[in-house]
Amino acid sequence: MDVFEAIETRRSHRAYKSDPVEPEKIDRILEAAHWAPSPANGQPWEFIIISDPNSREHLVDLSEEARKTGNIELHGFSYVRPIPQAQPGESFENSVNRYSVSFLKKVPVIIAVVGDPNPPIKPVGPGRVQDGYKYACAAAIQNMLLAAQALGLASLWFTFFDNELVSRFLNVDPDKNLLALVCLGYAAGTPPTPGRIPASTKVRHYQP
Ligand SMILES: Cc1cc2nc3c(=O)[nH]c(=O)nc-3n(C[C@H](O)[C@H](O)[C@H](O)COP(=O)(O)O)c2cc1C
Repeated sequence: MDVFEAIETRRSHRAYKSDPVEPEKIDRILEAAHWAPSPANGQPWEFIIISDPNSREHLVDLSEEARKTGNIELHGFSYVRPIPQAQPGESFENSVNRYSVSFLKKVPVIIAVVGDPNPPIKPVGPGRVQDGYKYACAAAIQNMLLAAQALGLASLWFTFFDNELVSRFLNVDPDKNLLALVCLGYAAGTPPTPGRIPASTKVRHYQP
């Protein structure tokens, strides 16, 4: 599979078989993450692999808790709007209530991506970007999703959780920032392809 096919065929999966994932595939996916670009090559990421059923179950409970307290919004996760299963015109609150996270119980491997705002190799100079570590982690996550696709695995970039609760559960260093949970496994079904606004509407030629 070439990179263009991986980019275009990758979908966000919200249903997984409980079949285990080969450890070599997880290793390759993590290796792909490490090859992402980062400011000054600081590699400001860490990965926590969660694969035992009790922990996955607990993550579901924590996500449900976040839904009740509304802390998804408070912790800046409003960018999951619109919730995938939302009906046209449906309010955010309604669609949040209908969005079920119970599929997490079946996801065989969940990888927490933790960003380090102060990596050992620090970008210096006037070009320093405060949020650079987040951009780098986003690049690493996309590498993971594309690598998973190339290896025949389903994936999801998941952020519907309360950052504080899940960080505490995973013993994330308080100086670091839990940015995403990446779900990996074998697909149960084929998700619909959400279309894209034509690329041409997002591009303009600069006219000096
Ligand atoms: C930063 C970010 C956060 C996301 N969080 C969630 C999430 O919490 N739950 C979810 O089901 N999908 C989540 N997604 C997936 C998007 O909903 C999905 O990429 C989008 O609907 C397009 O669908 P596609 O990935 O199948 O092309 C997230 C994607 C990104 C980039």
